[in-house]
Amino acid sequence: MKDMDTRILTTGEMQAEIIRLKKENDVCILAHAYQSHDIWEIADYVGDSFGLSLKAEAAAQDTVVMCGVRFMAETVKILAPHKRVILPNPESTCPMAEQYGKEEARKLKEMYPDHKIVAYINTTAELKTETDVVVTSSSALKILKNMKEEDIIFLPDPNLGGWISKKLPEKNIKVFEGGCPVHMGISAENVVATKESHPEALLLVHPECREEVISGADFVGSTTEIIDFAKESDNEEFIIGTETSIVDHLKFACPEKKFFPLFKGTICSDMKNTCLADIYGALLGTCGEEIVLEPQVIEAARRPIERMIELG
Ligand code: 13P
Ligand code: SF4
Repeated sequence: MKDMDTRILTTGEMQAEIIRLKKENDVCILAHAYQSHDIWEIADYVGDSFGLSLKAEAAAQDTVVMCGVRFMAETVKILAPHKRVILPNPESTCPMAEQYGKEEARKLKEMYPDHKIVAYINTTAELKTETDVVVTSSSALKILKNMKEEDIIFLPDPNLGGWISKKLPEKNIKVFEGGCPVHMGISAENVVATKESHPEALLLVHPECREEVISGADFVGSTTEIIDFAKESDNEEFIIGTETSIVDHLKFACPEKKFFPLFKGTICSDMKNTCLADIYGALLGTCGEEIVLEPQVIEAARRPIERMIELG
C-alpha cells in the first residue's frame, strides 16, 4: 500500500481503489452517459437525465457521488435530501442550465399568466422552484402530451421545445433564446457531408440539436435512447449527433458495428471536466463539493420534478 501512496496509479489501480473505497464507505456512484468510459466502468449506474433522477432516491447508500454536471447533482439532492451528494469536480456546470434564472421565469409568468412553465431538467434548482413541471429529453414528449394545458412556456432550450412543438401541433409552446452551445455547433452542412461519406449509416441525434439537423435524422432521442436504438438496430453503421463520448461507448458496446460522429467538435468540456482522479479524490475527501440547498428550495423544486416522474 505504501507503494500506491508514492507513485502514480494506473487507470486500473485507481479504478480498483475507487471500487474498494465506495464499498467500504457505502457510496453510490452515478454517472451521466457523457462521462468517459473509465468512469462508466466504476459507476453503479450510468444513464440519461431521466434514469439518473429515478436512481437518486432508489440508491440504498447514504452518499451519492454524481459524475456529471451541477444540475444533475442538485437533482439528486432535491429528490434525496437526506443523502450526502457530492459533485466530484465543482467546475462542472452546464452552460444551458445557467441561461434562465428565477427572476426571468417570474417575468414570463407575469407576461403570460395563463401559461404553464415547463423547464428542461438542465436548469438550476432555483429556476425549478418557479416551474410547473420539469422534463428531460426522454420524457418531454410524453409529459407535454399528457398535460391537459395547451399554453406552455418552455425553458431554456428552443431546439428541444421546437421539436416537441412540431410533434404536438395542438399545443401552443413558446420558446425563447438559449440552448446548448455544444449541440448548437452542429449544422445542416455536417449532416450533408457526413451522410455523403457514410450513405448506409442511420443518423441518430439528440433533440438539443438545431431543427435543420433534427429534420435530417432517422431517430431523435436522449443519450440512453440513442445508445439503445443503435444496439437494437439491425443496421451496421450509425452517425451520432450528440457528444462524441456516445460514439466511444457505442464502439465498446457493439464492436461489430461502425459509429461516426456527426461533427467531431461536439465535445462538452463541462462533462469532460470530471476525471477518474476527481472521483478518487471525492472518496478520499480531498476534492469535490457537497451540494447544499436551502430546505425551501428543495421543497419547491421537488414538486415539478416529482410531477415529471409521475407523468414520465
Ligand atoms: P440526456 O437527458 O439525454 O442524458 O441529456 C442531458 C444533456 O445534457 C444532453 O446534452
Ligand atoms: Fe449542458 Fe450541452 Fe453539456 Fe449537455 S452537452 S451538459 S446541455 S452544455
